[in-house]
Amino acid sequence: MLKINDVVKKYDPASSGRLRRRGIDIDKHRPALGGVSLRVEEGQFHTLLGPSGCGKTTLLRSVAGLEHPDSGEIELGGDTLFSAERSVDLSPDRRKLGMVFQSYAIWPHMSVRQNVAFPMRVGRDKRPKAEVDKLVVAALESVGLSEAIDRSATKLSGGQQQRLAFARAMVGRPRLLLLDEPLSNLDAQLRASMRLELKRLQSELGLTTLYVTHDQAEALAISDVITIMSGGRIMQQGTPRDIYDNPENLFVARFIGSPNLLSAKIDDGSGRRTVLTDIGPLVLDEAVPAGLTDVVLVLRPEDLEPRRRADGTHGSPGANELFGTVVAQSFEGECIRHIVAVGDERIECRSARHSDVRPGDEVSVPVPGRALSVVDAHDEPH
Ligand SMILES: Nc1ncnc2c1ncn2[C@@H]1O[C@H](COP(=O)(O)OP(=O)(O)O)[C@@H](O)[C@H]1O
Ligand SMILES: [Mg+2]
Repeated sequence: MLKINDVVKKYDPASSGRLRRRGIDIDKHRPALGGVSLRVEEGQFHTLLGPSGCGKTTLLRSVAGLEHPDSGEIELGGDTLFSAERSVDLSPDRRKLGMVFQSYAIWPHMSVRQNVAFPMRVGRDKRPKAEVDKLVVAALESVGLSEAIDRSATKLSGGQQQRLAFARAMVGRPRLLLLDEPLSNLDAQLRASMRLELKRLQSELGLTTLYVTHDQAEALAISDVITIMSGGRIMQQGTPRDIYDNPENLFVARFIGSPNLLSAKIDDGSGRRTVLTDIGPLVLDEAVPAGLTDVVLVLRPEDLEPRRRADGTHGSPGANELFGTVVAQSFEGECIRHIVAVGDERIECRSARHSDVRPGDEVSVPVPGRALSVVDAHDEPH
């Protein structure tokens, strides 16, 4: 298990100046990591997700031993890798980790075989040639590169180079695999298939993995647990489903998916299950915890399917039903996106691609209680 305890990292303001001159926006008063704690269980695929500059790479590099935090502790399988208090800071090669970064640093003058073998032929982790040969063949087989074993590494396609980088990182069965946006140089289609493959490899080998990405779709698809970061702090931690269905604060609600967000108040009289919005009351499946009054209601378009109203403009909406008019629509291949005017609000909805709803139609939008969640309107960082 990897344990990260209260890690703080502040960069030297002098280097901040250099970054700013290079057009990189930084706040030199805010630490890159403002006290981050997390655990990665044995065999878990754990993802750090957050916008650019939130501290993901700094945290990963601190685990690798490439950055030196100001305080805190990092432990792997009971060994201390870093402790400011006890002045422990193991060098990267003594941490026995596998790493793949965005630029996967394939050695161009070597063959595929030599690239994978190299980490085991030099340095502290040197192993006998026969053992290395066996491990290399197995690693290349697991990433589907057996045929290319004696090819020059530069003859590989982008996707193949990526596989090679994975094989090299995994070959020595590292105690922990660190991956920093390893798929971001691939085109979109290849990225989607590589992420499934990466997940398969990781779970087959049972590799404990800490993965960095700013791509939420990637994080949702691949992770056992996601830690969402912003401004050097953790915003929420949970399974992909948890984070998607129950954002804990406005930052996470805004960051994940593209939900409709409505200001609302909790109606105390209703057992705290009713939220009052400008477009009427809506009832949640579960009661809102005491103490919350002003909230933002999170309504995901994919839970809202508009239906044409047979009776035109007559009648009034039932419980958890919105009446409105479709004011815009786009065909998106996988679905149809609708903008529905409900009172003064514009609500985004989705429907199956065969929906017969058209712009201008009067529609009813059922709002399932389980699809509703609320976050504190005042709880936004920074
Ligand atoms: N070498 C550095 N010197 C000074 N500031 C840095 C350096 N590296 C990163 N930072 C700053 O630290 C913060 C976190 O950066 P980083 O960990 O790279 O974020 P992410 O990987 O989430 O995009 C940012 O504000 C960034 O500008
Ligand atoms: Mg980064």
